[in-house]
Amino acid sequence: MSSHLTPSIAELHQLFVDFLYQQTWHGNPQSLYEPQMYMMQLGGKRIRPILCLAGAICAGLAPEAVLKEALALEVFHNFTLVHDDLMDAAPLRRGAETVHIKWNPSTAILSGDTMLVRAIEILADGSTVEAIRVLCRMAKEVCEGQQFDMEFEAGAPPSTKEYLQMIELKTGALLGAALQIGAMKSGNLNPSSINELVDFGRAVGVAFQLQDDYLDTFGAADAVGKLIGGDILAGKKTYPFLMALEALGQEEGENFNNVYGSNNADKIATVMAVFDGLGIKSSFEEMLEKRLADLTLALSHLEIQPEGKTVLREIMASLSGRKF
Ligand code: IPE
Ligand code: IPE
Ligand code: MG
Ligand code: MG
Ligand code: MG
Repeated sequence: MSSHLTPSIAELHQLFVDFLYQQTWHGNPQSLYEPQMYMMQLGGKRIRPILCLAGAICAGLAPEAVLKEALALEVFHNFTLVHDDLMDAAPLRRGAETVHIKWNPSTAILSGDTMLVRAIEILADGSTVEAIRVLCRMAKEVCEGQQFDMEFEAGAPPSTKEYLQMIELKTGALLGAALQIGAMKSGNLNPSSINELVDFGRAVGVAFQLQDDYLDTFGAADAVGKLIGGDILAGKKTYPFLMALEALGQEEGENFNNVYGSNNADKIATVMAVFDGLGIKSSFEEMLEKRLADLTLALSHLEIQPEGKTVLREIMASLSGRKF
């Protein structure tokens, strides 16, 4: 990759995947290591490693310099997915069987645990202690967010504010840390510029999770690769649900909340009909596009290398209207 040209995200994706496919890890028992390779090779958008490489570019460093950090972040992400699918009782991920179904729940727990440790181990090999600290702090935030997510599922609906705080923890923290770990390696950016970049990454993560909620309900199964309506089935108090509650008012809202939280297997159609009647799909799309447009604007004020802005702008454009 020539250094005077800003790489496209397709090039950053390729750079990362070429590096990833040079890595294999095996061990005994095979049944502990196979699910890890299975997850890492199932694909996915690789947004976190791409953000890590973008972070380096923001700080004037070649993306090649942070490939290991990018790998650590993608391994960490895949650990969270293995455990998340177990917690959410999800049968499908990236169009394939989830680890707890293809193998079993104990294997999902242990192979996930091993990936978490592996992520730290990768950083320990050549990154700074500060980068490891960032990963550890972020990992705790992800767990906090996931715990709130599970509590909301079982309990009363959260406020919009509580919901947004939850998704900033479970998803925003990792996107912010990906930019941070990539950006901090060169030592070129001052702490306040890095903080602004991290806040930007976390806000992108919030928008990304809102899109994920949208796709779970309104997406196309083939593209999304997950069970559409899975969040409704599990009674997840996602943003489309909170928008519907708000539109319904007290009494109808309580009835809707009861249907939503019930164990009725055909509630997906009932809930979708309520969303349809309230026009949730289009108001959600409007809200999302506005968020992404605001973030793209905020991007122009960051104190980072112009090449970094170019890459981040392309990432924002690719998120707008994403189908999976
Ligand atoms: C799924 O992440 C979990 C969320 C935090 C929304 P991605 O949508 O990035 O999943 P992959 O890696 O592309 O499959
Ligand atoms: C997942 O949120 C967030 C983490 C994995 C930390 P979701 O549960 O919505 O993610 P998907 O939809 O299963 O990918
Ligand atoms: Mg899930
Ligand atoms: Mg989840
Ligand atoms: Mg989801």
